[in-house]
Amino acid sequence: MSNDSKFTPKLIGMICNWCCYGGADLCGVSRFQYPPYIRLIRIMCSARVDMKHIFRAFSNGTDGMFIGGCHLSDCHYITHGNYYALNMVLVVKKIMEHMGINPKRLRIEWVSAGEGIRFANVMNEFGREIESLGPLGKGERISEINLEFKLNAITRLIPYIRVAINERLRLQFETMEEYEAFYGSEEFARLYDDLIGDKLAISQIMLLLRERSLSTREISEVLGLNQSDISRHLNNTARQGLVRYEEGRWRFALA
Ligand code: FES
Repeated sequence: MSNDSKFTPKLIGMICNWCCYGGADLCGVSRFQYPPYIRLIRIMCSARVDMKHIFRAFSNGTDGMFIGGCHLSDCHYITHGNYYALNMVLVVKKIMEHMGINPKRLRIEWVSAGEGIRFANVMNEFGREIESLGPLGKGERISEINLEFKLNAITRLIPYIRVAINERLRLQFETMEEYEAFYGSEEFARLYDDLIGDKLAISQIMLLLRERSLSTREISEVLGLNQSDISRHLNNTARQGLVRYEEGRWRFALA
């Protein structure tokens, strides 16, 4: 819980033109209330939201990000964009967890054009949730510098993660329960570590070592990763000639 009673979150909602935007419109003409601090951006399909938009919004001080689309199987495009959006969001939530950012700051929901009251309810619930979490970073007890560092590290990996999702995670289940079951499974945890988790850890370590040489323990203290994982990543990276170990410290070898 945040102790800051004056905290007014900055929230962005990216909502699809054909369903969720219609729901927002109906919500407005029906005079249902929802928090005024949510800024809505109309997009043509939830699939148009890229993880770059999400992390850029967080880098610019957004406390919560909402994505609204048509109900599953109701997307207006033959590419079924909302399935793509859902896979992307569930991967990004896992990345946020890995970075120490509360994944509840990112939410995806399906709202049809006839569900004005549902739109208001979802917005009110999301607003309350983010108010209770507090400002991004502060709510997680991550310093501003550390948050910027983590967001910088993940931003560099986005082109690679996009390809990984396209190649390995274009999943199309019928229900949200099936998605939750898969993304909560051991199988996904393994896939995540192989495809993204290890790369993110290496990206963070390399960014740190570009600034200064550090011991394994110091890297572990900054990143919150365990020392054996850091040694494993650094030994692999050293074999590629990108880092070297001298006098008890790891150095970036290409400086
Ligand atoms: Fe609404 Fe694709 S058109 S999610």
